[in-house]
Amino acid sequence: MAKSSVMYQCSDCGAQSRKWAGQCADCGAWNTLVESLSVVPAGAKTARFAGYAGTTQPEVQRLGEVQPGQETRIPVGMEEFDRVLGGGLVAGSVVLIGGDPGIGKSTLLLQALAAFSARLKVLYVSGEESPEQVALRSRRLGVDADQVCLLAETSVQRVLEHARRETPQIMVIDSIQTLYTEVLQSAPGSVSQVRESAAQLVRFAKQTGTALLLVGHVTKEGTLAGPRVLEHMVDTVLYFEGDAGGRYRIVRAVKNRFGAVNELGVFAMTDKGLKEIHNPSSIFLSRHEQPVAGSVIMVTMEGTRPLLLEVQALVDDSQLANPRRVSLGPEQNRLAMLLAVQHRHGGVQMSDQDVFVNVVGGVRISETAADLPVLLAALSSFRDHALPNNLVVFGEVGLAGEIRPVPNGQERLREAAKLGFQRALIPAANAPKAGIEGMEIHAVTRYTDVLEWFTGQGPVGFRQS
Ligand code: TYD
Ligand code: MG
Repeated sequence: MAKSSVMYQCSDCGAQSRKWAGQCADCGAWNTLVESLSVVPAGAKTARFAGYAGTTQPEVQRLGEVQPGQETRIPVGMEEFDRVLGGGLVAGSVVLIGGDPGIGKSTLLLQALAAFSARLKVLYVSGEESPEQVALRSRRLGVDADQVCLLAETSVQRVLEHARRETPQIMVIDSIQTLYTEVLQSAPGSVSQVRESAAQLVRFAKQTGTALLLVGHVTKEGTLAGPRVLEHMVDTVLYFEGDAGGRYRIVRAVKNRFGAVNELGVFAMTDKGLKEIHNPSSIFLSRHEQPVAGSVIMVTMEGTRPLLLEVQALVDDSQLANPRRVSLGPEQNRLAMLLAVQHRHGGVQMSDQDVFVNVVGGVRISETAADLPVLLAALSSFRDHALPNNLVVFGEVGLAGEIRPVPNGQERLREAAKLGFQRALIPAANAPKAGIEGMEIHAVTRYTDVLEWFTGQGPVGFRQS
């Protein structure tokens, strides 16, 4: 492609210019011009558009007349991975796998490819590691990867040439940040390179029906590098969670055109790669011998599966003018809001206290069902009053001090009962009429009910303050 088709586009307003400048001439924003390919009039051959455009002229048609082709699912054979994918890979779909360096993206994909390679033709494109390194890893994993085709290449054009020749059914790009397209001059890993390379690969996948897995690194801010540009170009976005130092790895679907969102797959990193954890509820609970203050077991719904997690809080006298509110797992702003509700509607003042909240196992919770467990954990730590260790809690807390119901109440309770929990503190609207066998349910409608219940829990080590 000719050099002249390179343009600079403002990432704020979309204005284009032939030359790079520090400031956009149209909207005046600074540092927003990024290299891109100029938009060629419709109908012309262009590498610009990544959407699903067929080769024939599209016609207007009624939805009822469209005959969808059979969606071909290719199960990986790793149950936890299949679960996040929504039952397996879909032919022609593009999956983006994001996560911190060293968390296990390459390991998971190599294991998956080895499992596929017995039945299908697979191609692993490595831009980060040499073939020797990949081979070493596969030996270490003890998987049969002899049939996996390997290509160490970073030019998209050449990757696509090889892919057209080899016609793999599944292709892995590890990672998209190492690829570059020759039509742009910016460095590999820059926004425009990542976007353009991905666009070409996505088009290839759609045209040939190849299932494509892209590895994407995450920036320090926690977003996929190339400011989330990839997320809407692909069909599925999977994200690795959990701390790299820890043993457990969680793969979460944050977007899925072919399955449930927020679905989790849980793995443990061992010396033989990632092992599936089929019953994750049991591993995130550090069942304490004795009930301890500041610990509450909550039931969260991750995708279609209930999961029991331990929320811990530590409330301590602050030495600072602005006491700290630190939250790992639930969102920080939500914690501040919950503490305000607790103060206004419950009269519990923590404004001179540091509040730390953590979810055991490094799981990130975005669900509002965590509200009540978080507040209760903070209260339990503040009053130095342990809650019974056979208790589970969930529920949303509203700004008016009301306890609101959350979806799938019954399923949550059943999962807790299955794991031997005997008491539940839940929103009244979630209490099943028939009850749950072996479970004593305490339903609450307002935060004051929660406080009343809490005080009625017996005077074990109350802190007088
Ligand atoms: P890797 O898959 O290379 O991470 P990513 O591709 O996301 O950057 O994961 C590498 C980490 O996992 C590394 O720190 C070593 C560890 N590991 C194991 O503990 N056991 C194993 O069998 C393998 C292959 C890696
Ligand atoms: Mg890697």
